[in-house]
Amino acid sequence: MSNGKQAYLCFALTNVLIFFFSSITEEYEKELGRLSSRLTWIMLASLGISKEDVKWPGPKGDNQEAHVLQLNSYPACPHPDRAMGLVPHTDSTLVSIIHQSKICGLQVFQEGTGWFRVPPVPGAMVVNVGDLMHILSNGSYVSVLHRVLVNQTQHRLSVVYNYGPPDNVPISPIPKLLSASHPALYPPVTNWSEYVDTKAKLKGKALASLRLYEPLTKLIVLFRRSE
Ligand SMILES: *[C@@H]1O[C@H](CO)[C@@H](O)[C@H](O)[C@H]1NC(C)=O
Ligand SMILES: *[C@@H]1O[C@H](CO)[C@@H](O)[C@H](O)[C@H]1NC(C)=O
Ligand SMILES: *[C@@H]1O[C@H](CO)[C@@H](O)[C@H](O)[C@H]1NC(C)=O
Repeated sequence: MSNGKQAYLCFALTNVLIFFFSSITEEYEKELGRLSSRLTWIMLASLGISKEDVKWPGPKGDNQEAHVLQLNSYPACPHPDRAMGLVPHTDSTLVSIIHQSKICGLQVFQEGTGWFRVPPVPGAMVVNVGDLMHILSNGSYVSVLHRVLVNQTQHRLSVVYNYGPPDNVPISPIPKLLSASHPALYPPVTNWSEYVDTKAKLKGKALASLRLYEPLTKLIVLFRRSE
């Protein structure tokens, strides 16, 4: 952009945390909580990790995973090439489950290919691998870099279920995955909120600056809802 000073911000991204607990959001959160938990344990199981290996501390090792439900609104923008709905970032979660309205906007970055679109598929949700899954799995699951473009004529909405560990537990590569010849890729993170704060301070570079080695592959999972 030649004239950086000129403001091309032709929309306001409303990033609204849903504070009201209507029966619909309550039900949605309950279902997505179950789904996120199942996905997380299925992903870890594929690495040979069981719940026993990742007992979150707590009175009975049974601390509840936490979540934040987020509603994103991207109003139509006459100059979509000059504005960004959401700048490139990875999520600070274990997994995030995205429901997008019918309008295209979400893009995922793939090494070698560059940015590609993740179009809305009726009845399907998008599952992003987040930073904490990346750390927990020692980089076997790589958190996905994504961004959102605005649409010239269409207002886009998305509902994001951010799923993470209990807020008061440290996250580090699961010891069972490690050995002297297979060292940890990341040092422990104190807890979820601490990680989010660090990331905000480092402007999204937390994972990269924590990293002790280069990451492996990129992964995105499309999940189709069974009726
Ligand atoms: C705007 O949304 C429509 C409908 O999803 C899509 O066909 C079109 O390509 C989008 N435009 C941009 C710039 O993404
Ligand atoms: C998370 O870690 C920070 C820094 O150690 C601490 O101040 C905060 O109380 C912790 N939060 C929880 C919920 O344990
Ligand atoms: C953890 O990550 C490091 C760096 O990529 C790698 O050298 C090591 O083999 C990994 N450990 C396991 C058990 O995958």
